Amino acid sequence: MKKAVRILAVVLSFVLMTGSVLPISASAVSKENSWEEYLEEGKGVYIGPGADDTEMYVTWYGGKENVTPAVKVSANKDMSDAVTFEGTIHSSDKVERSNHVTVTGLEKGKTYYYVCSDGTKDTEVKSFKTVAEGADFSAIYVSDIHLTGNTFEDESLYKSAKVWNDVLVEATEREDISLILSGGDNATEGQPCEYYASFLPEQVKTIPYAMAIGNHDVKRYTYDTIANYPNAKLTGLSKSLIHGDYYFTKGNALFLVLDSTNSSAADHYFFVKNAVKANPDAKWRIMMFHHDLYGGHIESRESENMLLRLLFTPIIDRFQVDLVLTGHSHCFSRSHAIYRNEITENLAGKTSVTDPKGTIYLNNGSLRVSEEYSEPIKDSDRKSEFIATDYLSFSRGIYNILSFTDDSLTIKSYEYGIESPFTELTINKTTNEGGHPDKPVQLWFAIGKYIGTIYNMINNISRKGEIAERG
Ligand SMILES: [Fe+2]
Ligand SMILES: [Fe+2]
Repeated sequence: MKKAVRILAVVLSFVLMTGSVLPISASAVSKENSWEEYLEEGKGVYIGPGADDTEMYVTWYGGKENVTPAVKVSANKDMSDAVTFEGTIHSSDKVERSNHVTVTGLEKGKTYYYVCSDGTKDTEVKSFKTVAEGADFSAIYVSDIHLTGNTFEDESLYKSAKVWNDVLVEATEREDISLILSGGDNATEGQPCEYYASFLPEQVKTIPYAMAIGNHDVKRYTYDTIANYPNAKLTGLSKSLIHGDYYFTKGNALFLVLDSTNSSAADHYFFVKNAVKANPDAKWRIMMFHHDLYGGHIESRESENMLLRLLFTPIIDRFQVDLVLTGHSHCFSRSHAIYRNEITENLAGKTSVTDPKGTIYLNNGSLRVSEEYSEPIKDSDRKSEFIATDYLSFSRGIYNILSFTDDSLTIKSYEYGIESPFTELTINKTTNEGGHPDKPVQLWFAIGKYIGTIYNMINNISRKGEIAERG
């Protein structure tokens, strides 16, 4: 125990915040990329998952002073018999007004239509669907979208928004997607215009969009103002500097979204414990956070990864998480089954596994692509021993489609523009527990998790200073 605590204390001296790895090259801005029309009509609307399939969270920018934001919801396309839900206004130095509305009382397995109202012109009618009780469903998982630009004039903003939009179009053409998951670094500079651009695709207005926070998202307070998610942990022993952990259920799955820029393992532990306790019947436990734990592709980050493994894996193991979704390294990898930092089942070359005796870690590549073409590399020698397969592609975006049934979860991983997945894995479970060991956390974590908390208290002070300097 002493050794683990010592290692933790030493490693805690490394900072959590590091930059991203790939440069972005500028491209010509064409007429069809103009923001004008979008800004006039769009209002940056996105919908987020509610606590379960009977709720939907709606968020957008702007509105008239002293007018309470409202969302009108109807089962009819002509908006007849609409029900109005009123919400709240959130403001910060970076965002004058973000409207947050929670729509409740929805029926599962139904299509609804909605408009957003804020005293200016109402948005045009959009629709969304709720997942039926016990139905199979699919989600897209991406990370490191990296909408990039300090102003709407920046060419990189158009370029990154186009990549994001194209990926969502392609994914939704492949499958009926009911959830969009993003593992952080949604923006690069944390500017309002970047998030505005990330809410450009039609899909985020019709399919609930759940974002995790990345090290780039904490550069400014924008995300704090525009994040609108259920069961959010906004207080704690050492709360997140910007927003916080949150959870929701969809179909038979519990999604645990953590802020990995917050090293307070004690807070994450209690958050996950409560979420799992509140959802004892969930078949699948999916965790999503930004930082890569096991990919091993960037040597200079291995000390940071070691720290993060100490902070997060005891929680993942204790609560028998089936799949962990991460990003940050911009290098795709999928791990073997891992429990207590050891490979419990070697998945190299396998396309399915039944009741794995540990957790599988899926690290996405990035949507921050280079214009210079480079041949993708599969099963590179840069991956760590924990990794079953990796795929390094820096010219086209990488994304995954997760398909949930009652007894299986299939992960198909795609490179944008390529017909077939470059790898896939089906996890079968014969019981809710699967094959994951059910053991208490290691004794050293009883103290170790609070060391992370103390470090976060100190780290938050310097992070606040850095954000203030950036403006
Ligand atoms: Fe990134
Ligand atoms: Fe990152």
